[in-house]
Amino acid sequence: MDKPFEDQSNIKLNFESSGRSGKEVLSMENISAGYDKIELFKNVDMDLRFKDRVALVGRNGIGKSTLFKLILGTMEPMDGRLRLGARTHIGYLAQDIAFEEPDRTVLAYFNGETGYNEGPCRSKLARFLFIGDDVYKKVSSLSGGEKVRLKLCLMMEQGINFLIMDEPTNHVDIPSREMLEMALENFDGTILFISHDRYLINRIADRIFELSEDGLKDFEGNYEAFRALKESLLQARMNEASAEKEKRAQNYRDSDEKRLKNAEKRRVKKLEKLEQDLAEKEVEISDVEGKLHGSELEYDDLMKQYDILNALKSEYDTLMEEWVSLQD
Ligand SMILES: Nc1ncnc2c1ncn2[C@@H]1O[C@H](COP(=O)(O)OP(=O)(O)O)[C@@H](O)[C@H]1O
Ligand SMILES: [Mg+2]
Repeated sequence: MDKPFEDQSNIKLNFESSGRSGKEVLSMENISAGYDKIELFKNVDMDLRFKDRVALVGRNGIGKSTLFKLILGTMEPMDGRLRLGARTHIGYLAQDIAFEEPDRTVLAYFNGETGYNEGPCRSKLARFLFIGDDVYKKVSSLSGGEKVRLKLCLMMEQGINFLIMDEPTNHVDIPSREMLEMALENFDGTILFISHDRYLINRIADRIFELSEDGLKDFEGNYEAFRALKESLLQARMNEASAEKEKRAQNYRDSDEKRLKNAEKRRVKKLEKLEQDLAEKEVEISDVEGKLHGSELEYDDLMKQYDILNALKSEYDTLMEEWVSLQD
């Protein structure tokens, strides 16, 4: 297999051809939304500026995809104001990408959407890794990664300047993922994406929005900065809680309270252990990331390191989930 990500310059040219939007790309004031009169979230304010690269995070089911529906205009908010800026051209990468006319080939689809002849179609598709006979695959038979690449390839021809993506790296193979990341890095417009993918967030985002029931929190910086901030907030809460406990500990007598106290001790111990494990895992992850970014690895080794990285990240996420679940 050829090295999939060497054609950076061409991608860059493609991405630069879209006209820029105004400075204000999207603003939301006091937005609430939900289904069947049941509210998912409220008081959402958002102020997105040209070239912002924002990761939208929040627990499953909180309404992130719903928020996208509001932006795309396929759903109305229950309350509040939403405004898209001047000359904003949205490109939307859905979570489950579907193509009309499933029997069409990649080439026929691309030709139908762009009107280009076969030659230009093939060379544009090749930049997104559809090489040789790949262009004769039916769109319905494409893998997750291929669907993402095809959509991206098309969007880059459509002069978009505001890219909205819903969990773009789910079910995406490594070459497609690398292609996606590189394309995003070179994209000349505004990006808003939903993701749980810590690696993607760190590589792309310079701002993080966290959606919760009562609004949107805005964090400057990448995922590491976001997590550090969350941790320090949690730490402060834990300190408060333990000061509180100290006071109560002065005069506890009955066995119920004793039992609770022991459970609390175990919880705190477990948290400390988890924090230690997380720190160790982080060192391992950055070692592998260092290998990935720092050197000229052969393709096979690169793939191996990615596998290791993915395994480490998922171990990390498991630890993190456990850690978060012990906070309340
Ligand atoms: N069309 C719909 N009708 C009713 N409920 C929906 C609809 N779409 C999503 N929901 C519900 O709204 C909640 C938020 O969904 P979603 O926006 O997809 O969350 P997220 O993307 O943050 O995981 C979920 O509980 C989901 O089941
Ligand atoms: Mg969703």
